[in-house]
Amino acid sequence: MGWNSWNTFAQNIDEKLIMETADKMVDNGLLAAGYEYLVIDDIWSLRARDENGRLVANPEKFPHGMKYVVDYVHSKGLKFGIYSCDGVMTCASYPASYGREFIDAQTFAEWGVDYLKYDNCYKPRTVPGRLLYHKMSLALENCGRDILFSACNWGEENVEEWIKETGAHLWRSTYDIHDNWESIKKLLWQQVGLQKYNGVGCCNDMDMLVVGMYGKGNVGFGGCNDVEYRTHFSAWAMLNSALILGCDVRNMSPEALKIVTNRDVIAINQDAAGRQPYLLCADPDSDDNSQLQVWVKHLDGGDLAIGIFNMSDYTQSPWFGFDELGLDPSSGMALVITDLWEGKELGKFIDYYRTTIEPHDCRMLRCKLVPADGGPYVCCAF
Ligand code: GAL
Repeated sequence: MGWNSWNTFAQNIDEKLIMETADKMVDNGLLAAGYEYLVIDDIWSLRARDENGRLVANPEKFPHGMKYVVDYVHSKGLKFGIYSCDGVMTCASYPASYGREFIDAQTFAEWGVDYLKYDNCYKPRTVPGRLLYHKMSLALENCGRDILFSACNWGEENVEEWIKETGAHLWRSTYDIHDNWESIKKLLWQQVGLQKYNGVGCCNDMDMLVVGMYGKGNVGFGGCNDVEYRTHFSAWAMLNSALILGCDVRNMSPEALKIVTNRDVIAINQDAAGRQPYLLCADPDSDDNSQLQVWVKHLDGGDLAIGIFNMSDYTQSPWFGFDELGLDPSSGMALVITDLWEGKELGKFIDYYRTTIEPHDCRMLRCKLVPADGGPYVCCAF
């Protein structure tokens, strides 16, 4: 969990922005909610390396050097992340780490960096990406500092099959997000089938969150409303994605802040067991699951998390039978369901759950298994 500069600021990053962002992440409760890493993305360096082949922070943006900024971020209790690429240049044509992996890892370690986002632009076509991610991972593991490795090859080269071998801690499973509903829908749909590659210590990254951007900034193409941001956040949480904020946290709307700091929803994302969620077909009459998705996840300790996402443009009334969860009547069990956005226990349910969801809205439910004997029930057997 953290914040990354790209979605809103792109090239417009500097010492002042990073320090103000660090201050705000502490003051508005983001750090306390778990957003720990502050990551600068592309376009932080000079266009040339120094005479020793080392990367240099652009002195116009970072007049006191990178270590100064990193130290400040650390002094606030946050961790610091930086960006490079496995190719000869970053996506924005700044020097990248191909052939310089070990020296760059060394530089990052000397600056006190805690996280590296490693992108995939300008990579020689003849070299398998897999080897380049192996190489940087080895460089990081041997640089003398704990640096979280965030691989970002946009889901190419069947990355899901080999990324865990490299030691990466998170890996981008999708192309870039844009701040609009179509993009959120597309990325959620792209994730279907990849959820099973998630695991403790290495999570899928469905790209940075756009919650609270409202169409402003680098990827702010159109914007979303708060209901859509809540669904977006819930889906990323439910599917175990990294939760990296991308809005300007210095000026968040109260609603956006409320969404991203919902502790119950964050707990579903950060669940210690890190189990893969699975997809139910909520509406057996619907032949388009991308429009209405019901995801279920077994949580540490025995509860179930259920996320229901109405991705369609019309109101839907999804239901599912508990037999689809493995809880047929012979189990003798019922569910006590809590709605995590309402912050309210809905009661004890038996056999099935049905609800009505407005377009683009969702439900995030936490369900406790209890003996079915003895009502009262909110929903009863058919
Ligand atoms: C893209 C990457 C983005 C951002 C950008 C910077 O390849 O997916 O998240 O890092 O490069 O140029």
